[in-house]
Amino acid sequence: MKNIAVIGSGTMGNGIAHTFAQFGYQVNLIDINIDALGRAIATITKNLERQVAKGAITEELKAQTLSNITTHTNLQSGVEDVDLIVEAATENIELKLKIFKDLDQFAKPEAILASNTSSISITQIAAVTNRGDKVIGMHFMNPVPVMKLVEVIRGYATSNETTQSVMELSQKLDKMPVEVNDYPGFVANRILMPMINEAIYTLYEGVAGVQEIDTVMKLGMAHPMGPLQLADFIGLDVCLAILNVLYQGFGNPKYAPCPLLVNMVTAGKKGIKSGEGFYDYSNGPKDAKVASKFA
Ligand SMILES: NC(=O)c1ccc[n+]([C@@H]2O[C@H](COP(=O)([O-])OP(=O)(O)OC[C@H]3O[C@@H](n4cnc5c(N)ncnc54)[C@H](O)[C@@H]3O)[C@@H](O)[C@H]2O)c1
Repeated sequence: MKNIAVIGSGTMGNGIAHTFAQFGYQVNLIDINIDALGRAIATITKNLERQVAKGAITEELKAQTLSNITTHTNLQSGVEDVDLIVEAATENIELKLKIFKDLDQFAKPEAILASNTSSISITQIAAVTNRGDKVIGMHFMNPVPVMKLVEVIRGYATSNETTQSVMELSQKLDKMPVEVNDYPGFVANRILMPMINEAIYTLYEGVAGVQEIDTVMKLGMAHPMGPLQLADFIGLDVCLAILNVLYQGFGNPKYAPCPLLVNMVTAGKKGIKSGEGFYDYSNGPKDAKVASKFA
């Protein structure tokens, strides 16, 4: 595999494109929103500069990485010559089913179609294509250039060959792939999201404030970041979408999203990406201040 397409250039798409390009792959980065593509290239450039400043990569590798990425707004021309597509568009099932139907039509018959979905069924995504054996989950973690894990999700129809290719490819990106089966939330979010939801309930019920909840989990459980701040980093809209998939997928009320989370997303408070979630990021993530009225 040499040529890769990444669909969606938001939080995850820009990190996935950065990582493949840094390891020498030619990347077509595709988004329907041209401004999002511009922001993605600016973010990748800034993150590469940070890697150079830390001595992690050279100035030459930075330039090479940037030259390995081309941006596209047209799906068909962006995917027709690639060996692997990693879809990282918005977490919405109808949107993903439409994208995979189109990919099945436009991509080479031998191309592998991967999704970075946090929770949507790989089996269901594969079912809208005529190549279910070549559809797989490739779930990177945020921030992609830094985080080691790739959760590799086998749909019901995914072949051993596809799984093996994606496991090996992940290792070539200096990541640690872990193979899991396709059930709602897979492993990562099935465990993480109920914890985040419980932290939001703890705030909602007045047990403690934002800072207190995050401090208990940071200092008491040695988590590098508290669950409320982590939710802001992931995106509160993404957290809500995942909890709804768990809730509907298992039909179990223990996964019902906290009403406070629903209200915050409805009010446009999506975390870092909108400038405010449980914290206010107007002075940047390092100087985040508690914003929640529940604090
Ligand atoms: N945010 C996280 O921490 C995280 C972690 C792991 C996985 N994920 C998953 O990654 C995916 C992307 O999440 P994100 O946080 O990067 O979202 P985001 O909102 O930051 O970015 C989504 C991008 O997709 C683009 N898009 C929407 N429809 C499109 C289409 N039809 N074609 C091309 N581009 C399209 C949007 O313009 C936007 O730029 C989701 O499936 C999410 O569940 C997110």
